[in-house]
Amino acid sequence: MVGTVTHSRRVHVTPLDQMHLAEATRVLERSCPFDRAAVVADEKLFGPAPAALPHAFGAWDLGVLVGVAAVAGNRIRVLAVDPAARRRGHGSALLAACAAQAHAAGHATLRTLDQPGNYLAPGVDVRNVDTIAWLARRGFVRHPDDRTNVLIDVRGNPRVTAARAAALAATLHARGYEVRRARPNELALADAVATEFGGAWPFELARALAFGPPGVHVATRDGSYCAFAAHDGNNRGLGWFGPTGTWPAHRGQGLGEAVLLACLVDVAAHHDRCEVAWIGPRPFYDKVAGVAEDRHFALLVKKL
Ligand SMILES: CC(C)(COP(=O)(O)OP(=O)(O)OC[C@H]1O[C@@H](n2cnc3c(N)ncnc32)[C@H](O)[C@@H]1OP(=O)(O)O)[C@@H](O)C(=O)NCCC(=O)NCCS
Repeated sequence: MVGTVTHSRRVHVTPLDQMHLAEATRVLERSCPFDRAAVVADEKLFGPAPAALPHAFGAWDLGVLVGVAAVAGNRIRVLAVDPAARRRGHGSALLAACAAQAHAAGHATLRTLDQPGNYLAPGVDVRNVDTIAWLARRGFVRHPDDRTNVLIDVRGNPRVTAARAAALAATLHARGYEVRRARPNELALADAVATEFGGAWPFELARALAFGPPGVHVATRDGSYCAFAAHDGNNRGLGWFGPTGTWPAHRGQGLGEAVLLACLVDVAAHHDRCEVAWIGPRPFYDKVAGVAEDRHFALLVKKL
């Protein structure tokens, strides 16, 4: 852990304790126009990731919390300064704290936001041009990777209904598949996903299974998993869709559509829209439910 990083009368960065969550949430409410960071403040500042411990920092101005940041491994999870306290060096001090922490942990690069398993977004929203320029002036280089989220209307959308989800499940049932909600303790599913897909997916899946009721739907056949889809495993409370996967031998039969739709119907109980994160095939989502809006993200990387 990096200790107090910068100290002057006005600019003072310290490790941030979870006891300051309420103030940190208020900072994020005021600071992040493109991301619903305040809703997931606890998860982003203090929550685990599969392969890295989070370190949260606070920037203080005469005893008032005016900025927050968190880094885990070589990813900045979040970095934000209250608009009323900008241009006083708080952002730079928070960034320096994140960089020092990542460097001390042995990392040679620092990246923006895209931490597998626990990410606010897969990069900085491209509309956030001031922040992107601010990072570029501090040595961050834009990576050519394009990351996209899509927003799907889940209320008032004739393609997103419980009746349609039930009809798809019935069609698949006639072909020998069972489409159902996963059970809260169905950790065999996380093991099966780890074996087939790996990465951070089992971590997100385990978190989605712990949602009440589990934010996971599966398709099985003869007791084996054939497809799964999850929501609210990352960014719990945002109506955040992913991950999802169909085992290769069962692709092309509508399983992905059925489990996606079951998740969208879940999300509609709490939200008007579902945010489908870090998508692969956009036409798939457009065909199943219609894409209402795209979000594009810039990945920025700095050598330490
Ligand atoms: C990017 C961001 C963190 C910068 O915060 P900040 O506290 O204003 O940062 P700094 O004060 O260190 O830097 C801002 C500018 O003020 C300048 N500055 C710093 N101290 C200064 C001072 N005492 N007097 C005048 N200028 C000063 C800096 O040099 C810098 O100039 P530059 O923009 O030309 O590079 C802030 O704009 C922000 O929170 N943006 C939104 C972030 C967001 O959307 N986050 C969500 C994804 S995580």
